[in-house]
Amino acid sequence: MFAVLSDIHSNLEALTTVLADIERRGIKTIYCLGDVVGYGANPKECLDLIIEKSKWCVLGNHDYATLYEPTNFNYGAEQASFWTRFVLETNEENNSPEAHVRRWTFLGQMPMRQRLTTKLGTETALIDFVHASPRKPINEYIFPDDVYTNPAKVRLLFERVEHICFVGHTHMPGVFLDEPDFYLPGELDNFYPIIPDEKAIINIGSVGQPRDKDKRASYAYVEGNEVRFVRLEYDFETTIKKIQAIEQLDNFHAERLRDGR
Ligand SMILES: [Fe+2]
Repeated sequence: MFAVLSDIHSNLEALTTVLADIERRGIKTIYCLGDVVGYGANPKECLDLIIEKSKWCVLGNHDYATLYEPTNFNYGAEQASFWTRFVLETNEENNSPEAHVRRWTFLGQMPMRQRLTTKLGTETALIDFVHASPRKPINEYIFPDDVYTNPAKVRLLFERVEHICFVGHTHMPGVFLDEPDFYLPGELDNFYPIIPDEKAIINIGSVGQPRDKDKRASYAYVEGNEVRFVRLEYDFETTIKKIQAIEQLDNFHAERLRDGR
């Protein structure tokens, strides 16, 4: 059994809620698809938890923005990445030099992809993990509408997928098949069975900035050959207050948490 998380976006309340659910289920292995930081008020705390709890974490565009520079960001997202960098660079009290080095080392060593070949129940699966897409792992969006508006794009993406590819980035959970087709988790009773001869791109949604009009934190775990989609209520009012209290963080990224948009 393993869990896959993505797009935490410095939202500590959502992350701790998800981690508690993972622990309650007895899941010991956690993989992270990036965007640990950005938008929210707790970059250090979220990084520390992901460093401690995850086996590895691939690089997201907001992690990249904090480490290097924001690419194609709107003003609010750009300001959030500069603020995040400032916070991570500032060595205040109860922030040991070791923790400081550990966070920057972790960010600097995030891989762009990871691959796993594993037995899932009786089936063998080859699973790729990227933040965004199999051909542009950091920045390309794969939207549900692409299967109708740009099916050629989705087919090209599937040429880069050997079997299963987990992604985040759009903050919209669901399963893409190579027809191409897209299924919301609800249309699949919240699970997708991995089988040897079906390719799938599986978006696990966002822990800390859900944008599918469902405000609950999203993640997925794999048990046997089944990918299970999970949604969890969390205390977003606390998250909202924290963002609003920081001048450099855009209130829009706080208020949208109430509607998951
Ligand atoms: Fe993100």
